[in-house]
Amino acid sequence: MVDCDPGVDDAFSLGLALGSPELDVRAVTVVAGNVPVEQARRNASRLLHLFGRDDVPVAAGAARGLIRVKPPHPPVHGRNGLGGVELPEAETAGSGEHAVEVLAQALREGSPGRVTIAAIGPLTNIALLLSLHPELKTSIERLVIMGGAIGTGNITPVAEFNVWADPEAAQRVLTDPEVAICLVPLHVTRRATIRQEHLRTLERRTRHGTLLANIVRGYGDRHDGGWPLHDALALAAIADPALIDTRSAVIEVDTGVGRSRGQTICAFDMPIEGWSGHDFPVRKPSIAANLKMAVDLDVERFRTMLLDRIPAAIRG
Ligand code: RIB
Ligand code: CA
Repeated sequence: MVDCDPGVDDAFSLGLALGSPELDVRAVTVVAGNVPVEQARRNASRLLHLFGRDDVPVAAGAARGLIRVKPPHPPVHGRNGLGGVELPEAETAGSGEHAVEVLAQALREGSPGRVTIAAIGPLTNIALLLSLHPELKTSIERLVIMGGAIGTGNITPVAEFNVWADPEAAQRVLTDPEVAICLVPLHVTRRATIRQEHLRTLERRTRHGTLLANIVRGYGDRHDGGWPLHDALALAAIADPALIDTRSAVIEVDTGVGRSRGQTICAFDMPIEGWSGHDFPVRKPSIAANLKMAVDLDVERFRTMLLDRIPAAIRG
């Protein structure tokens, strides 16, 4: 299951997931984030159509954050969320069901502990899922989340976009002790870049390569001479866990309304066992055995996966 807000890097995540033999994408759910939720649904449907996968259902979820509506943000992903590239219209209208119910149904149908959820947009749908269907937590094998920033943010100096867009949802999800979480944060994903030479390789390898390359070329996020495909690293790490190094961590999210709203506060090891001589309740790492956070990546291995598997996703 992929919960997303396409989004340029979300688009490459879908392609990589569909082209990965280890993964079976049963449904795509969308949430307001990079674009309004209806645009996200349209983009997801058109991307699945481009990959020849009209069989994969798309369901729209939350149109806004749990508690507060996020302020407007720069159109980093282009005016339509896909770098301004207009993809062919999809033939399927998409599921009329709410994303949370589609996620819940997939968990009911999957054998216990066998469904991985990739959450690569704001966590509103996931927070609603855990709150409305707590009995289904045992059917979640792992929740792999792109989000959070240790150090500088990308939407504010201290906050990463997915968490900033709905900090209350992020706090609800990231502090749930009953779900196995792999958090892939910004200071790792911003290094998961592709450059023009990689786009030219993609153009040579698949008939839709130029469309996909132009989606990236319309993407305003840049790092170290390339375009960071944050979400695609999270999806790739599901197919190939050796792609990232992880450590146990505890996370708290600033859900205030000040300048640090959406900041993720991370502790790897408590300074003194059980000590928390400050005013917010940082839980002891022993409780946080369920949360692993990515601390490093193999970027060349990531690029190879991307350039091999996205062409493989395009059938016919
Ligand atoms: O901060 C990166 C995240 O925000 C990615 O999910 C990207 O798609 C944007 O939504
Ligand atoms: Ca995203």
